[in-house]
Amino acid sequence: MKIKIFQNDEQLYNEIKNHIISEIRELPSFNLGLATGSTPEKLYLKLIEAYTSKEFDPSSIKTFNLDEYIGLEESHEASYHYYMQTKLFQHIPFKGSHVPKSTGNPEENVKEYNKLLEENPIDLQILGIGSNGHIAFNEPNTSFLETVHIATLTEKTIIDNSRFFNSIEEVPKTAITMGLKNIMNAKKIILIATGLNKADAIFKTVKGEVTEKVPASILQQHPNVTIYLDSEAASKL
Ligand code: GLP
Repeated sequence: MKIKIFQNDEQLYNEIKNHIISEIRELPSFNLGLATGSTPEKLYLKLIEAYTSKEFDPSSIKTFNLDEYIGLEESHEASYHYYMQTKLFQHIPFKGSHVPKSTGNPEENVKEYNKLLEENPIDLQILGIGSNGHIAFNEPNTSFLETVHIATLTEKTIIDNSRFFNSIEEVPKTAITMGLKNIMNAKKIILIATGLNKADAIFKTVKGEVTEKVPASILQQHPNVTIYLDSEAASKL
């Protein structure tokens, strides 16, 4: 694992943007794994700026999101479809963009997304991390061998994510998510964490034992992970 720590957000997100663009330029076509949450928002602004100034060509890039709440319409403001559409996809014309389906038959959606990922191996996966060490919606005690599945959210995650909803009761209890196995299949991974509330999860991810109790700890076994942190998220290392 490579760890990079930055004193300010501007430098942090600029470096991540440059890292992503240099990876994109190495391949004639590119499968980019994307994340949601507040952490990648500034990265998406940087990517939009970079696209506007022609730093990369999106026409050979396909994107694949990690997860989506079950039961929210795609037009719901807290859905990850809506998030991706408004924060990135309406600004950058990628070759194709995929977010797991949140409505309809969940089992069919799981199968379909697994198949899509098998056919389109991810070149670079962007990840955030939950304060309990979850990645995508793989909560503590999820098997490292899981592929795309329907996950039940923990109370901690529901509380953390309730800030995007009008009330905590509105937060869905389940989600469709890439499994840890799908994530580990990505050729390269970038994990981003900022803020003091991520310091404990980052310490366990980087220095703790590899255990299903801390889903992100599996990243210690991946051959190419770069972790980008601000000084608060890095404060326990
Ligand atoms: C959600 C998402 C994760 C994300 C996490 C942290 O639970 N499913 O992919 O990493 O939140 O979000 P934030 O960046 O808002 O702290």
